Amino acid sequence: MEVKKAGMAESMLDDVESLPRGGFRCRLCHVTVANKPSLDDHLRGKKHQRLESLRSVRQTQELRSVFVSGFRKGTPASELSDYFQTYGEVINVVMDKDKGVYAIVELQDKEVLEKVLAQPQHSLGGQKLRVKPREKKDFKYTQPRKQGSAKREQLSPKKLAQELCQADDVDAQMSLLVQQFEFSEGERRLRDLLVTLFQEVFLEFFPGSAILPFGSSVNGFDVSGCDLDLFLDLEKTKKFQASAKSPIEPLDGVSPEVDSHSEDSILSDIDLASASVPEVLELVATVLRKCVPGVHHVQVVPNARCPVVKFCHKESGLRGDISIDNKLALRNTCFLQLCTEADERVRPLVYAVRHWAKQQVLAGNPFGGGPLLNNYALTLLVLFFLQTRSPPVLPTVARLKELSEDEEQTVVDGWDCGFPKDSAQLEPSCNTENLCTLLAEFFRVFGDYDFVGCVISLREGQPLPVPSILVSEASSKLKLGPLNLQDPFELSHNVAANVNEKTALRFRRCCQAAAKYCRSLQYQRKSSKGKIWGLVRLFQPGTAETEAPAATGLVIGLPLTPALLPAQTREQLCQAGDLHWRWFQRVCSGITFVLKDVLRCSCLKVREGLEREQGEAAERQQGEQQREATAEQPLSAGRKRSLDEEEAAGSSSPSPKRLRTDPSFPEEESMAWDCAVWHKVWLGRRRVRRQLCGPQPDPQCPSGSLELEAKVSEAISWQDGEARPADPLLQFTIHAQAGADASGGLDTRISLRFEPAPEHAAAFQEFFHFLQGFLPRAVEQRLVSEA
Ligand code: UTP
Repeated sequence: MEVKKAGMAESMLDDVESLPRGGFRCRLCHVTVANKPSLDDHLRGKKHQRLESLRSVRQTQELRSVFVSGFRKGTPASELSDYFQTYGEVINVVMDKDKGVYAIVELQDKEVLEKVLAQPQHSLGGQKLRVKPREKKDFKYTQPRKQGSAKREQLSPKKLAQELCQADDVDAQMSLLVQQFEFSEGERRLRDLLVTLFQEVFLEFFPGSAILPFGSSVNGFDVSGCDLDLFLDLEKTKKFQASAKSPIEPLDGVSPEVDSHSEDSILSDIDLASASVPEVLELVATVLRKCVPGVHHVQVVPNARCPVVKFCHKESGLRGDISIDNKLALRNTCFLQLCTEADERVRPLVYAVRHWAKQQVLAGNPFGGGPLLNNYALTLLVLFFLQTRSPPVLPTVARLKELSEDEEQTVVDGWDCGFPKDSAQLEPSCNTENLCTLLAEFFRVFGDYDFVGCVISLREGQPLPVPSILVSEASSKLKLGPLNLQDPFELSHNVAANVNEKTALRFRRCCQAAAKYCRSLQYQRKSSKGKIWGLVRLFQPGTAETEAPAATGLVIGLPLTPALLPAQTREQLCQAGDLHWRWFQRVCSGITFVLKDVLRCSCLKVREGLEREQGEAAERQQGEQQREATAEQPLSAGRKRSLDEEEAAGSSSPSPKRLRTDPSFPEEESMAWDCAVWHKVWLGRRRVRRQLCGPQPDPQCPSGSLELEAKVSEAISWQDGEARPADPLLQFTIHAQAGADASGGLDTRISLRFEPAPEHAAAFQEFFHFLQGFLPRAVEQRLVSEA
């Protein structure tokens, strides 16, 4: 419905669209207003006026510019400018920086432009130039981001945690998360420019084609650095090609400006209508490789569910995909956009869940394929959750269809994709739950979900039992698996079909652990002592491993028994009583010896840290509530967990002998240390060992001895410049736990669970790998030599 009112300029009329219930929308500024007086205010206002004049400047620039190609690579802008000066004044020449094969030449006015275009042939330096008018594009206004985000630098995980901890509550943390992750103005502009560039180039080779972004770049869930998904629509090009072959047929809206039979037309190589998808993608890849400035690592992936050409933009490092057979993705992108506009809680919630899932290695599949949930599937899961709240936060897809107008009824590839264009057409939600609650509930709901027995349907907004859903023809083609999430439009597609049983199980387990944590005060309330709280703990990697500490994660088992001690020492141990505990103590002292004296790590028993902290008066005044909450929180979500627990216990802290560091272990002997590594003592040990031993082995320091190993570490740290750097390379906590056999009797094996500081999680892997081989042998040696 268009508004036609006397006195309004033509462009204004085009900009304004009337909405149901008397509202209006300004397409230029993306502003929706409730009534006519507000519309008039808006149209007279600064924003609208500024954008109108910006649009008119851009349009005039466009109207007097030409797109030039065919010149020698490396031709300077000045040479092009000189050439076109012969027709009239040249205002500006914009060259593509990288490949130097295109330029946009802005001329003084339309008259000069017409003179240039009237010339049948242009040549420069012996090269034939191709000179075309610029494509006319709709002026698009990109909304400025919230204050502060324009110049935002991406924060390190440590800084992000600090920032989040300073927020007032979980809702504020979630909003902050969005601000930190969403595109900066610069990144958005870069993507817009890239899309424009692709459009210019593809139009050159595929007349009538359109390049359309979809996915996270435009669906409202943009995360800085996410890939750029593009759809190359060749429908019009196909029509154009067909009509060019039979010149008698009318060209029904398709511009015949390029002759597809001419020698230099890429279209003369291929018949788009009959070519296979991989063949067309090869052609697209050729255009990308040869003609799109700044693009490299171009690769056709023909066998994916949706075949694509992958590419990378050299300067920005941005990665992207181009597909040619993916119209449904454009539609589901609009659907996701609509959901973000329908309720302001959608974005923060999705960002929080996506970041949590990334940290727990549940979603993302960074290299494509893989058994993890893709981000689209995870986003749908959050939307489904919001549909199922009572009252719902989002309407079901079936309800959206009912709300849509006739012209919005769209069918794509045979699937019903009808939903309103504008969120103003939706009924506002009556749900008043805050973000903190919604996130906790998300984990609770999916921690206990029957993923196998039902299909999650966003169309119906409810789980559909597996046997009954198979009755419908479309759904009967669903590839069922351990997690069944039906695409809201392509009903035969399970978007989580790639998820394997292990990932589905881990997903549930991680949700359970997160739900448990969300019940604690650490989640709900800001720490008054500057400790990590709320989302920060939730985002620490490996939360689910608390459920089965020895089965997965960073665990090293020490399969040691007192049998390795001389008989006399063993007897002494037995006589002293409490063999289990004494053995555990002995092994722990072996562990600290190896870490401190052999590997030159800092190693502070968590108990010691606790005693120091307990000395502080503030620490002693912990409220009863805090204690209860701490006792309830899930374990191993934070490096300082054991300290927190002890604090919560206050004056009734356990005796040092029976310190219980980690209640996820059964009530047994356990101990924990906060450690730091200062030098890369795990690298190049063999070489240093060889240098130290020389041709004549030192009898005082035999090869393989701990003395030699200590010297190796020392030599490595000297190489690094002996003095301790200001910050450690790695920080981590070790939780040692004695085992118990099935009957609860003595089991002398000890397991060590490592918990790296979140910011060191990736780098820690290398050190951990070294420890897996080194530590058990070294501790055993220490026990034997000490006895
Ligand atoms: P992604 O899973 O990459 O989602 O799918 P994303 O939101 O872009 O997240 P990033 O890029 O990983 O951060 C990209 C798009 O592909 C379409 C959807 O439009 C999705 O937004 N898609 C993906 C489907 O249509 N079906 C699928 O099964 C998967």
